[in-house]
Amino acid sequence: MATRQQLSTKHLLGIKYLTTEDIQLIFTTADDFKEVLNRPVKKVPSLRDITVANLFFENSTRTRISFELAEKRLSADIVNFSASSSSVKKGETLLDTVNNILSMKVDMVVMRHPAPGAHHFLAQHIDANIINAGDGTHEHPTQALLDAFSMREKLGDLAGKKIAIFGDILHSRVALSNIFCLRKLGAEVMVCGPPTLIPKHIDTLGVKVEHDVRQALQWCDVANILRIQLERQDLKYFPSLREYSQYFGINRELLDELDRPIIIMHPGPINRGVEITSDVADSEHSIILQQVENGVAVRMAVLYLLAAGR
Ligand code: CP
Repeated sequence: MATRQQLSTKHLLGIKYLTTEDIQLIFTTADDFKEVLNRPVKKVPSLRDITVANLFFENSTRTRISFELAEKRLSADIVNFSASSSSVKKGETLLDTVNNILSMKVDMVVMRHPAPGAHHFLAQHIDANIINAGDGTHEHPTQALLDAFSMREKLGDLAGKKIAIFGDILHSRVALSNIFCLRKLGAEVMVCGPPTLIPKHIDTLGVKVEHDVRQALQWCDVANILRIQLERQDLKYFPSLREYSQYFGINRELLDELDRPIIIMHPGPINRGVEITSDVADSEHSIILQQVENGVAVRMAVLYLLAAGR
């Protein structure tokens, strides 16, 4: 790559803190890295002098593997940390854990943590670049970037495009980051789900609210379908999974009623038969695995651009 441009920020704490120009720069950089990933030799030396720590205090399949692959494709040195097999279990604090790892000369930290704002706290105390890989119910910025990048591949410029986000909006960090990202790109955004799973006053973020799945599907160009996050639900928000699936699940019959095809997305992991049926998740309209594929190029772009500011 000829020029190495930079983001306006040292960390990726959330989409909220990115400018529209930052997002566009991540996309054009990811376009280049996607081309690299389709070569026989899928590796570039860009982060050869950089060490990245991947700190996961919550479970992950996609995000963790995707970041690790992105770092390896950029030739970074990597250390992986999982809270479940660490001294966190002996009572060590987050700050002590991170400072001990950083004392071994780590340059960048990718972290998933259950506490919203954990990354902001760290950013006030450490010098490394911090990338939020999901903080509780708050933000999951790289998921929103790869979602929007995948929509852009299918639809071109997202300005004026209609994106509906279905499901458990209340507990979803993916929903909030998607809303911030898509609104910055000029898309129209709708959230759809039972009233108990839609945060009050979410319309103040510039999104439409709909409780009728058929209406939302008729309206949108893209349906981004979210998982019911039972592990974060301290109350009963709907009578049963069966009833949720019946009234709010996306199935083939609903798609067949539409007068035009729409794009189907899901950040994973999927609860098949709950928020989405298998014949929709695996249909010709689904780009779920393309989202996962694009995640590596988008995360390479984020790592590369943040490292450029060091
Ligand atoms: N989409 C996503 O964040 O998946 P993982 O929890 O498997 O990382």
